[in-house]
Amino acid sequence: MKERSVGILGIGSYVPEKIITNFDLEKTIDTTDKWIVERTGIRERHVVAEGEATSDLATRAAERALLDAGISAEEIDLIIVGTVTPDMQFPSVACLVQNNIKAVNAAAFDLTAVCSGFVYGLATGSSFIKAGTYKKVLVIGAESLSKITDWSDRNTAILFGDGAGAAILGETDAGYGILGIDMGADGNGGDLLRVPAGGSRLPTTEETISQRLHYTQMDGNEVFKFAVKVMGETVNKALENAKLTAKDVTYLVPHQANMRIIQSAAKRLGLPMDRVVVNVDKYGNTSAASIPIALDEGIKSGRIKNGDVIALVGFGGGLTWGATIIKWSKP
Ligand code: UT7
Repeated sequence: MKERSVGILGIGSYVPEKIITNFDLEKTIDTTDKWIVERTGIRERHVVAEGEATSDLATRAAERALLDAGISAEEIDLIIVGTVTPDMQFPSVACLVQNNIKAVNAAAFDLTAVCSGFVYGLATGSSFIKAGTYKKVLVIGAESLSKITDWSDRNTAILFGDGAGAAILGETDAGYGILGIDMGADGNGGDLLRVPAGGSRLPTTEETISQRLHYTQMDGNEVFKFAVKVMGETVNKALENAKLTAKDVTYLVPHQANMRIIQSAAKRLGLPMDRVVVNVDKYGNTSAASIPIALDEGIKSGRIKNGDVIALVGFGGGLTWGATIIKWSKP
C-alpha cells in the first residue's frame, strides 16, 4: 500500500502581551543586559498576565492555525499538546483547548517531552494520519514557563518565556510534507533539568515550597554541552531517514534556547546563519512552543516558501531530542 504524505495545512502562534526586558531583570537580580545578550542572545521575553494560563495561549494559537488552514474545528480528529506547564495536573491542556475551540469530534491528550514536545507531537500526530486512523490532527506546543521559574535565580530567570504555536496536520501531495523524523531520549540525564517537587515523588508541602523545589532547576553547562552535540546528530538522522543531507536543507528551525547553542548546531551542520530561523532575542526559551512560533514567523514573513526543505530540531529536559524534516507545501 502506498504511504500517505502528511504535511502542515495551517500554522499559528500566540505570545502574551506582557514583556519583561533584560533591563527589567537588572532591577531584580544580579545580572546585566550585556551578560544576557552575550551569553544567550535573549533581549526580552513575553510572560502571561495574572490569571492567564497555558490553555489560553494554546487556544489562541490553535484558532490562528485553523484560520490559516481554512478548516473548521469540527474537522479535527485529535489534539496533542506538548507542554510541561499545564493549567493544572488534569484535565489536560488538550481537553481544555478542545472545549474552547469546540473541536467536538477530537480525542485529546498532552505529551511530556519538555522542549522536544512539538517535534514529538508532529511525529505522533503524523503517524495517526499515515496509519489511516485520523485525517486531521492539531499539534500544539504551549508553555507558561514563567509560572515555574524562580525569578530570584539568575541561572534560569533570564532564559525562559511564555507562548504557544500550533500546526494542523493532514494529507498533502506526494513527495511533500514530513519526509523524515528522529526522536531520542536519555533518562540518565533527567536531573540536569527538572522541577523536583509537585509530583508523586515529592508532593507539594510547605517544606518543598520553602526550599523552592517547585521551580525549574538546571545545570546550564551540562545542558549546553548536550544540546550542541545532540542537535546536529538528530538532524542528520532525520535527514538520513528522508534520504537527504544537510546540503538539501533550506532553513533550520531550531529550538530557541540560546543563540550560542543555535550557532554551534548550524556550524556543525555546515549551514550559514542566514539559513537559520532565530527569534530567541524576542521570546527567550519558550520550551515546546519555541519551534512552532519560529516556524510560523519564518512562513508568515515570507522567508520559508513552498518547496523549501525545513529541518525542525528540539532538545530538552528528560533528556529528550528530536528532529523533523519537512518539504514545505501549504495548499
Ligand atoms: O531548553 C533547554 C533548556 N536550557 C538550556 O538550553 C540552557 C543551556 N545552557 C545555557 O544556555 C548556558 O549554560 C547559560 C546561559 C545558562 C549559562 O551560560 P554560561 O556561558 O554557561 O555561563 P556559566 O554558567 O558558565 O557562568 C559564567 C559566569 C559565572 O561566574 P564566574 O563563576 O565565572 O564568576 C556565573 O556565576 O557567569 C555568571 N552568571 C551570570 N552573570 C550574570 C551566571 N548567570 C548569570 C547571569 N548574569 N544571569
